[in-house]
Amino acid sequence: MSKVLGIIGAGKVGTAIGRLATDSGWQVLFYDVAPVDQVAGATLAEGSSDATFVSLPELLNAADIVLLAVPFGAASHADLSALSGKVVLDPTNHWPYVDGPMPELDAWPDSTSALLAAHNPKMRLVKSLNHFSYHDFTSDARSGDVSPRRAMAVASDDADARTIVSEFVDDIGFDPVPVPFDRAKLLEPEGPVFGHWLDASGMREALLLS
Ligand SMILES: NC(=O)c1ccc[n+]([C@@H]2O[C@H](COP(=O)([O-])OP(=O)(O)OC[C@H]3O[C@@H](n4cnc5c(N)ncnc54)[C@H](OP(=O)(O)O)[C@@H]3O)[C@@H](O)[C@H]2O)c1
Repeated sequence: MSKVLGIIGAGKVGTAIGRLATDSGWQVLFYDVAPVDQVAGATLAEGSSDATFVSLPELLNAADIVLLAVPFGAASHADLSALSGKVVLDPTNHWPYVDGPMPELDAWPDSTSALLAAHNPKMRLVKSLNHFSYHDFTSDARSGDVSPRRAMAVASDDADARTIVSEFVDDIGFDPVPVPFDRAKLLEPEGPVFGHWLDASGMREALLLS
């Protein structure tokens, strides 16, 4: 695999992950609706030959993984049809003070990621990265020979997509813990793993995985 990460949204999470990705040998392509000089990712792109801003079609054409590093409200109101067939990494959390009223969630029994999946079932959607703060990405990343490492849940029912994202998570410094997609709700704010430092066995225990 060519190891190209396309990051939609060059804000706090997009930039923190982009930096870890370039440090571990990935090429990073950013796209943002905001002007390039007004987003955090600009600093990374200026300082690294492995990070650059491109158009959305260029990003979608080249990326092995597309990271949706935008507010959940923006993701759920966007036209996701161009993401069909792509491995899409969803780190989003619903924060009412950011997203505003979202009546579609009132009676929604499943995870917010499942709501995105319902908008385009042809995306190869993987929920991950959402249960850390963006500061944790920088402070807690460790190479694979360090034990214990902080664990990162990787939730999807697409086995190949889950493997691709798990390898990425390992590359950037965390222990991937594969999780069925129906556990994605447990990764959300107020769930048992959100904001907690857990190693892989603690993560499996918290998510009731055998
Ligand atoms: N911050 C954290 O610690 C953290 C941790 C884990 C997960 N998350 C989740 O990660 C996502 C990103 O959070 P963040 O803190 O990085 O947000 P952020 O700093 O506000 O960055 C989001 C960026 O996405 C841009 N954007 C919005 N809609 C877009 C669209 N349709 N296409 C392209 N770009 C778009 C925004 O531009 P404008 O500002 O111009 O709208 C902004 O530059 C959120 O869903 C959040 O819940 C955040």
